[in-house]
Amino acid sequence: MAFSPPLHLAAFSCICFMLPVLAKLPRFQRQPKYDGSLSYLVIGDWGRQGQYNQSLVATQMGMIGEKLDIDFVISTGDNFYDDGIKGVNDPTFLESFSNIYTAKSLQKQWYSILGNHDYRGDALAELSPFLKKIDSRWFCMRSFILNTGIADFFFIDTTPFINHYFIDFEHTYDWRGVSPRKIYLNNLLKNFEKALKESTARWKIVVGHHPIKSISHHGDTPELIKHLVPILKENDVDMYINGHDHCLQHISSKDSPLLYITSGAGSKAWRGDIKECNHDVVKFFYDGQGFMSIQMTETDTEFAFYNVDGENIHRWRLTKPLHSST
Ligand SMILES: *[C@@H]1O[C@H](CO)[C@@H](O)[C@H](O)[C@H]1NC(C)=O
Repeated sequence: MAFSPPLHLAAFSCICFMLPVLAKLPRFQRQPKYDGSLSYLVIGDWGRQGQYNQSLVATQMGMIGEKLDIDFVISTGDNFYDDGIKGVNDPTFLESFSNIYTAKSLQKQWYSILGNHDYRGDALAELSPFLKKIDSRWFCMRSFILNTGIADFFFIDTTPFINHYFIDFEHTYDWRGVSPRKIYLNNLLKNFEKALKESTARWKIVVGHHPIKSISHHGDTPELIKHLVPILKENDVDMYINGHDHCLQHISSKDSPLLYITSGAGSKAWRGDIKECNHDVVKFFYDGQGFMSIQMTETDTEFAFYNVDGENIHRWRLTKPLHSST
């Protein structure tokens, strides 16, 4: 697959593709529960036609989702393996999503972003509103903001930040809408930082595909440490949640309240390689399959990790007094 436009069209299509990235990040609203609380699941790196225990994880998500009366699901990307979807009519969408997450409690909006594997297919198809007609739960954009009252969520497209993919000649990436890369990234960072600064929500959650800090297979991501960490810390982000590494992990920063959370264990896992962490504090690491739940009120955020049997294997609570100045 080649996505570069013919030369005589290049200048023209450049202008077309640049316009949307100059615009502000798309913003969406949803109501929390009647008491102002919110609960949701987070899963990443999942679409494998039910294989590698994807179906087992889905069953457990259904049960925990029911118990916690979840409002929505967040997907941290790598939604469809190995190479995204081929087009809007690719049966993979049904085989790896609609026919797998069938539990009643999971019939909610799925807020999703793209991972590097999604970029290896037809990325525009995965972003296409047409998929919503096939399954109305599907909601996938590169970068967007979700306001829910007590919490603001900032979804950020991390794949274009990673230098490695731009010199990876083994795979083809669908960079339509991302080129020219430098302009795309500059605008994204500018809009992202502006949106964070403007946020008055009690909780600020950022979701990206790639980890910033990880002791698993891929390790830390230098591009994100450089470009995102200063903005996250400066703007009092509570949590950065990602996938990409097929594990569940919780890392705390030494010099700020920012947490680095990985939920990328939706199917294939058990990699077994663990790196050393020099700077931050690893509170929990599990390299098997599973998912995460988060429950929020104005004063408390509690998150939990579950394994493939639905057992709660780690739990953590953050509290913010009501009268703290923000
Ligand atoms: C599925 O989960 C079980 C634990 O219930 C584990 O023993 C097994 O290795 C997993 N299978 C795969 C393919 O990862």
